Amino acid sequence: MSRSTVPLLCSFLILFASSASAFNITRILGQYPDYSTFNELLSKSGLATDINSRGTITLLAIPNGAVGDLTSKSDDVLKRVLATHVVLDYYDPMKLQRMKDKTAKMTTMYQQSGKAAYDQGFLNVTARDGSFIFGSAVVGAQRNSKLEKSVMNQPYNISILGISQPIVTPGIDGTMAPISAPPPKANTPKSSPVAEAPAEEEEAEAPSEEEAEAPAEEEAEAPAPSKDADAPAGAPDADAPPADQAPPPSSAAKLKVSFGLFVVLATIILA
Ligand SMILES: *[C@@H]1O[C@H](CO)[C@@H](O)[C@H](O)[C@H]1NC(C)=O
Ligand SMILES: *[C@@H]1O[C@H](CO)[C@@H](O)[C@H](O)[C@H]1NC(C)=O
Ligand SMILES: *[C@@H]1O[C@H](CO)[C@@H](O)[C@H](O)[C@H]1NC(C)=O
Repeated sequence: MSRSTVPLLCSFLILFASSASAFNITRILGQYPDYSTFNELLSKSGLATDINSRGTITLLAIPNGAVGDLTSKSDDVLKRVLATHVVLDYYDPMKLQRMKDKTAKMTTMYQQSGKAAYDQGFLNVTARDGSFIFGSAVVGAQRNSKLEKSVMNQPYNISILGISQPIVTPGIDGTMAPISAPPPKANTPKSSPVAEAPAEEEEAEAPSEEEAEAPAEEEAEAPAPSKDADAPAGAPDADAPPADQAPPPSSAAKLKVSFGLFVVLATIILA
């Protein structure tokens, strides 16, 4: 199964990368040194690949000086946060000027992750003080990411807008209850499963890696005692016997125990 699916997956990925890739966001952003940290974070989180698979996006880019503690977030949280900076539509300053009622609700890539709750996957952009203010569409979210400039655009496929600071989406990193939950007591149990649900999925992946490592560690530990035993002995002759002898007794003992168990079980069943 796994042997046949791996090449299939690989060829699918290659096909996908070559046919669906509209642009290379890493290369495009690479031309703007003010956004180099943001660019690195897009690659680090794996979001750059997702962006490249799309035909129409608006990227709300954070300048190096305003990236703040995003660099210290886990790749998973980072990817969620950055996904709220990718609007699945084309918006350049001219289109923002034409917004009906000078406000709009925008769908972000985070909405498509299936992890978004409430309005976490949407942004609210509103004209204010001669500029545009971006923020999470979640009720009560602070909105103060100001449009600073149009970094580049290629109508109607990609637009990169420079914003003053990261968009803060309530509850996106699981540290905050997703708003308007009733009393504190009901709040804690209700909010934590929501916040933990994605984390558990990741944890489910993590143990498999640990399990894969675990046997290796055991194997590594097994020869170690014999080496320790070698060290005091010092003599090369003394090295060989303990190493050879060490494994057989344990496996032989296991065999004896299991055989003994088998005999006992067989006796019980037969009796
Ligand atoms: C995108 O551009 C970067 C920088 O030029 C390069 O390292 C990377 O391989 C490119 N990715 C794709 C999918 O072409
Ligand atoms: C650019 O956008 C148009 C309309 O959204 C889309 O049909 C086209 O495939 C996009 N071009 C690329 C290179 O993705
Ligand atoms: C965006 O938020 C403002 C202020 O809360 C609100 O007046 C406006 O209706 C919102 N825009 C949309 C499209 O929901």
